[in-house]
Amino acid sequence: MNLIKVKDYAEMSQKAAEFIIDKVRSTPGLKLGLATGGTPVGTYQKLIEDHQNNKTSYHDVVTFNLDEYIGLSGENKNSYRFFMNNKLFNHIDIEKSNTFIPRGDVEDIISECRKYEELISKHGGVDLQILGIGGNGHIGFNEPGTSFDTKTHVVNLADSTIQANARFFNSMEEVPTQAITMGISSIMKSKEILLLISGEGKREAMKQLLHGKISEEFPASVLNTHPAVTIIADQAALAD
Ligand code: F6R
Repeated sequence: MNLIKVKDYAEMSQKAAEFIIDKVRSTPGLKLGLATGGTPVGTYQKLIEDHQNNKTSYHDVVTFNLDEYIGLSGENKNSYRFFMNNKLFNHIDIEKSNTFIPRGDVEDIISECRKYEELISKHGGVDLQILGIGGNGHIGFNEPGTSFDTKTHVVNLADSTIQANARFFNSMEEVPTQAITMGISSIMKSKEILLLISGEGKREAMKQLLHGKISEEFPASVLNTHPAVTIIADQAALAD
């Protein structure tokens, strides 16, 4: 894994945006894997600014998001579809029909999992996957204990994840307890991975990722076995 150390969240966002813009410009029809959560918001803001100032075009880019809450439709302001439209897609020249996020509001969720996996394969797989990391080492919503062989699947969210996500909801009761997520093996099929880590709250996870053993009890540890991972981490996450 290639580790890029930066000062703070702002520098992480700037560096990550430059990394992504370079790929968008050099790879026609880039298949870009995206994440939600607080970590990539600054990066998305930088992509928007660059699109406005330098006219980087996303017209031919196809995106696949990692995950979505079960039970929320795309119109719900807490859904990841709403988040992505709001934080990125509405502000760049991407075709909405080329932006894919697993659906959490369909009746047959098992078939949705299969279809999402097939969709990614049909497009030739993800070229560059953006990831954040949970304090417990989750990637996507693959919580500790998830098999490294998983494809897109339905998960019960860990209590710590529900608590961490509660900041986006009016009350704890509203936080969904299940999600549909790309699996570990789906993520590992990406040709390249960019993992963003910022803040004190990620310090333990950072340490375990770099120095801990590779184990399903710490999902992100699998990234040590991927041939092309870049981590951009800030001082707060790196300090011991
Ligand atoms: C989001 C996702 C999650 C987050 C992780 C970190 O699509 O898949 O794995 O990346 O929970 O979230 P933040 O960035 O809010 O700390």
